[in-house]
Amino acid sequence: MSLTEKIKKLKEEKNAVILAHYYQTPDIQEIADYVGDSLGLSQKAAETDADIIVFAGVHFMAETAKILNPEKTVVLPDLSAGCSLADSCPPDLFKEFVAKHPNHKVITYVNCSAEIKAMTDIVCTSSNALKIVASIPKDKPIIFAPDKNLGKYIMKETGRELLLWDGSCIVHEAFCIDKLLELHNEHPDAVIIAHPESEEHILKTATYIGSTSGMINYVKKHPEKKFIVATEAGILHKMQQEVPNTILIPAPAAEDNTCACSECGYMKVNTLQKLYDCLNDESPQIDVDSGIREKALVPIKRMLELSK
Ligand code: 13P
Ligand code: SF4
Repeated sequence: MSLTEKIKKLKEEKNAVILAHYYQTPDIQEIADYVGDSLGLSQKAAETDADIIVFAGVHFMAETAKILNPEKTVVLPDLSAGCSLADSCPPDLFKEFVAKHPNHKVITYVNCSAEIKAMTDIVCTSSNALKIVASIPKDKPIIFAPDKNLGKYIMKETGRELLLWDGSCIVHEAFCIDKLLELHNEHPDAVIIAHPESEEHILKTATYIGSTSGMINYVKKHPEKKFIVATEAGILHKMQQEVPNTILIPAPAAEDNTCACSECGYMKVNTLQKLYDCLNDESPQIDVDSGIREKALVPIKRMLELSK
C-alpha cells in the first residue's frame, strides 16, 4: 500500500479528519479532507465530529483546534512547526503591555499562542480583521497584536488608530520590492495580489490584498488575467488547480536566488510520512492548560460568531 492509501485507511479506522493549510506541501493538501485559510480551518475544527484532528499546519492552528475541542485528540505532524509571528509576542511582555493600557480592547491575530489569546477580547484572522475591528465602538481604543503589517493595513483601510505590537512574519517580510518591480516590468500585464502580512511598500503595489482564501477567490473571479502572487508559495498548488489556464508567478524574495519564491520553513517541516506517523501513534498531541483554554476560548468564539 502507498503511504497515501495507508493514511486514508487509518483515517477511516480512527474516525480522524485531516485539516491542512494552503502553505502545506501539495501531497499533504491532496490527502486532506479540507484545505483552507486560518479562518476556514478554525471553522472546520469547530464543527467536526471526528474523534481525532490531524492538523497539517503550524502549532498555533492546532492549538486553536484543541481549544475548540478539548475532548478530542489533536495531533500535529511535527511539534517544531512554529511561527515567527507567534514567537514575536512573548506572553510575559504582552501582559505588561496590556496592563499599561487598561482602557484598550485587545484584538489579536490568530497567529499567536493560547496564552496571548487568553489575554484577548477578540481574535481575528486576515479574512475577517476589518470586520472584527469594525465591531468595536469607534471611541474605544484598540491594541492590535502581534502583526504590525496587518495592523498598519487595517489602520489604512479603516482610518482608525490602533496601538500596534511590533511583530511580523519572516516569510512575508522577505519579499523584495526591487525584484518585485523588476518582475512587474517584465510582466506589465500581470496583476499583483498580496497577503496583508506583507510590508506596506509591497501592499502599495497590489491590486488586491486579502487572506489566502481571499486571494484564491479573487483569481477565480478573474481567470483571464495573469497574476504575481505575494504570499507563501504553497498557495500556488490549489490556486493553479482552480485556474488551470491562468499564469501565476510567485513574488520574489530578497534572499532567494534559486526558486524566486517565499516558503515558510515552519509549515514545511510537516511531511506526509510525519502525518502518517502522528495519526498512527496519536502523537505528538497538542495540550492546552485548562485555565488558559477556558480564557482563550472566549475571544475565539466571539470571532467565529462575528464571522458567520
Ligand atoms: P491566512 O491563512 O489567514 O491567509 O494566513 C496566512 C498565514 O500566514 C498563516 O500562517
Ligand atoms: Fe507564521 Fe509567517 Fe509561517 Fe504563517 S507564513 S506560519 S505567519 S511564519
